[in-house]
Amino acid sequence: MCGIVGYIGQNMDTDHFLLSGLEKLEYRGYDSAGIALLNDEGIHVFKEKGRISDLRKTVHTSIPATQGIGQTRWATHGAPNRVNAHPHQSQSGRFTLVHNGVIENYESLYENYLKDIPLTSDTDTEIIVQLVDLFVHEGLEVSAALLKVLNLLKGSYAIAMIDKQDADKIYICKNKSPLLVGLGDGTFNVFGSDALPMIHVTKTFVQLLDEEMVIVERKQVTIKNLKGETVLRDSFQMDLDLDDIQKGTYAHYMLKEIDEQPFIVRKIIQEYQNTGSGFEVQSDIVEAVSTCDRIYIIACGTSYHAGLIGKQYLENWAQVPVEVHIASEFSYNTPLLARKSLFIFISQSGETADSRAVLKKVKQLGYPALTITNVVGSTLSREADYSLFLHAGPEIAVASTKAYTAQITVLAILAAVTADHKSIPLSFDLLHELGVVANAMELICDRKPEMQQLAREYLHDYRNAFFIGRHIDYYVVLEGALKLKEISYIQAEGFAGGELKHGTIALIETDTPVIALTTQSNTNLGIRSNMKEVAARGAKVCTIAMEGLDKPDDQLIIPSVHEHLTPLLAVIPLQIISYYAALEKGCDIDKPRNLAKSVTVE
Ligand code: G6P
Repeated sequence: MCGIVGYIGQNMDTDHFLLSGLEKLEYRGYDSAGIALLNDEGIHVFKEKGRISDLRKTVHTSIPATQGIGQTRWATHGAPNRVNAHPHQSQSGRFTLVHNGVIENYESLYENYLKDIPLTSDTDTEIIVQLVDLFVHEGLEVSAALLKVLNLLKGSYAIAMIDKQDADKIYICKNKSPLLVGLGDGTFNVFGSDALPMIHVTKTFVQLLDEEMVIVERKQVTIKNLKGETVLRDSFQMDLDLDDIQKGTYAHYMLKEIDEQPFIVRKIIQEYQNTGSGFEVQSDIVEAVSTCDRIYIIACGTSYHAGLIGKQYLENWAQVPVEVHIASEFSYNTPLLARKSLFIFISQSGETADSRAVLKKVKQLGYPALTITNVVGSTLSREADYSLFLHAGPEIAVASTKAYTAQITVLAILAAVTADHKSIPLSFDLLHELGVVANAMELICDRKPEMQQLAREYLHDYRNAFFIGRHIDYYVVLEGALKLKEISYIQAEGFAGGELKHGTIALIETDTPVIALTTQSNTNLGIRSNMKEVAARGAKVCTIAMEGLDKPDDQLIIPSVHEHLTPLLAVIPLQIISYYAALEKGCDIDKPRNLAKSVTVE
């Protein structure tokens, strides 16, 4: 959600760095974009509604400049149009600024300080740049003025600001919204909302904490807290491979990421394998999971769905009671907490504001927290007591695929190691069975034409679809329905097969598509009855069955894997069918409308 990128150095092609950087941030979700460049002639601002390709047309000719800032905006305050797009400039034209986040008290700041200044946009952001200008005009030096503004702001921000009168500095600031500084070779420095726009120029980064301001110069960066005191922080290395963020021969990142899943399961096995034939997880984490009374899994979207599967493993294998909660609801709807509670935050990005709000509350209450995330150094991983990583490589497509299967795999390993620690025997060899899953995933990924055909037959031309399953399959169809609606805009809902008749079956009419999943021997008969119920009312049922439970008329038979691990495999045809349904409809698959990859506002 919103992305920032910036450069200060000696190269003259800053515009190229910013525009290609913004393209690498596109995956976060946005609806307008802009850049500002500073050179001897002054400040040059370009902004446009729509895609970076539209912005590129607006920039049309190269503007040599050695510093600049850029932003992709996901509208919160003010419509997504060119006027509200960032950068915004102060009334005098001296300061130019981009901002991610939400300033909650922007109206009162306007009333208290800026009443005489006509605003040019409907954004909360413009208040920030006008305030800086005002305080500088009143006599403060620039960094003092900016610090004064930051101390007045309530809400979240990642900010980058250029001062037209000082080509040697860019000011950046962070509170709750992510921002990372990339250290150059002594001739330049860069910054961005994440590492992706910078990894081709550096692998050395400095993480910013909340309520910090950084003065970025060519040769140095100076971090200050909101009192103006200098803060010293070590840099760290991030070893991201450039290939990880390129589509290669794939038409879409989503398809590439779907295909990466077998490889990622094997990678996770490697990362967590011990020297023998089992798994190993950091001992303090295993201790925390083994000794708590109850686990609360907190997550959003796809990560929440992975949490539902994780609950099965932690309860059935490690015998720890688990509740799974949607982060955005947890704060209002906090259950009675167990005395020895452990919180597990599942988040691909590690930046989701709803989850972070819960983490803050949990820390205040004094409970321990573990984050399971794909992004090393992300806010949730830094702020929790413990972290486990997914090792899935950057996930670029907004619709999450490989992170989901990676999350389930890591949760399975955590549950198995905890069970072992508690001397609870598992009836199967997880390491072996995960290997079987990875092979089966590969087989499914190779059968895309069958699923493309199913998407054509069952989903093309339909406005809504239902997904049904029982037991663990129910959780998988929730994820299948989410995938379909996210990228194809077909209204899709996942239901527990037995629940359909208690209301929703009223919506079934002739040719309503119903995708039914059956991978569990104990629910196979039950879900097959539910298929009959909807078919009797005219539904077009597409059955996905696991080998061994299949019937001659089933539409797709997936290889047999261990019953507990079927979600890892069964989700893949649902991902692929959704992909092709969206492709048939000509949707923007990697960047679906209204969605953001990393949702940094509550
Ligand atoms: C957004 C994304 C979803 C994702 C959810 C949680 O809504 O569009 O794909 O599942 O955030 O994100 P997280 O990074 O916390 O897993």
